[in-house]
Amino acid sequence: MATIKDVSKLAGVSVATVSRYLNKNGYVSKEAAETIAEVIEKLNYRPNNIARSLAGMKSATIGLMVPDILNPFFPELARSIEDAANGYGYTVMLCNTDNDSVKERKYIDTLLQKQVDGIIISSYTIKPEHLTGLQKQSIPVVLMDNVFSSDSVVSLTVENRRGGELAVQHLLAQGCSKIAHICGPLTITSSRERTAGFEDASRGTDWFTPSLIGYSDFTVKGGYSAMKELLALHPDLDGVFASNDLMAAGAMKALQETGRSIPSDVKVVGFDGIGLEMMNPELSTIAQPISELGKTAMDSLVGLIREESDIVTDQVFPVTLIKKQSTRKN
Ligand code: RIB
Repeated sequence: MATIKDVSKLAGVSVATVSRYLNKNGYVSKEAAETIAEVIEKLNYRPNNIARSLAGMKSATIGLMVPDILNPFFPELARSIEDAANGYGYTVMLCNTDNDSVKERKYIDTLLQKQVDGIIISSYTIKPEHLTGLQKQSIPVVLMDNVFSSDSVVSLTVENRRGGELAVQHLLAQGCSKIAHICGPLTITSSRERTAGFEDASRGTDWFTPSLIGYSDFTVKGGYSAMKELLALHPDLDGVFASNDLMAAGAMKALQETGRSIPSDVKVVGFDGIGLEMMNPELSTIAQPISELGKTAMDSLVGLIREESDIVTDQVFPVTLIKKQSTRKN
């Protein structure tokens, strides 16, 4: 009986290309598609689960868990993961957990029942023991935005601490003299590191006080409420660093509602770089390389699935300051 490997060999293309052709997922050139179709006919090849497993795949599906699909950061991430996954012949099952640990557990069980080949997890609620459970069942996992002490988990993060520092340094350079910070969920390393970066650059200045840090949840609503609270405590603040762009958008709404003009009265920097062009004024931000993160997450997951030995466990990506009108100098 012919296998997917026989088809790939005779057609002169990779197994992943044949898989993309069979699953109608991802790009296959017209020429390659014609050749594969001819070879399939010639070898009387019938794709089935056995052929899949010969190609090293259990279900040719991977799971992607995100905490909040309404945050544009995650569709952008999902898109690059999906593009890369298709290139390898995988289909992506998207699970939006709504930041709810019960929903998250249910999704993990469902993904296991569906025999996914691996899971990419971005979560504000996942705990190390959940990952250990998956690892015990030999499910390859790539974790985003979080680092657990166990060195056997592949984690992807960005220079969060440096990003927090950069944001404050930029606000100071633009003339701010009292800067507040809206921090994200403390359950993830990325969020804690951004706040640590804010503190690195602020502690020791004559204006810093811990009550300039407001605690929130990476949502627009959360950013809005945190900003209102900060303004009640510090009506004279003139700069804000929010740990993500959505909270920065909420903060800007609160500032404008209370009669403050951005950037002349208060300057604002976000984090992520999700390109909220519709904002007025446009938001300065510490941008993450979202597409690259997605592609690398998928490359790493495939490396784990194939049991390659050279996978880097902790990968840290650079961030970039993007200057827009929200921090323009007066
Ligand atoms: O905005 C969503 C946030 O969740 C991002 O900053 C990303 O890093 C993740 O932690």
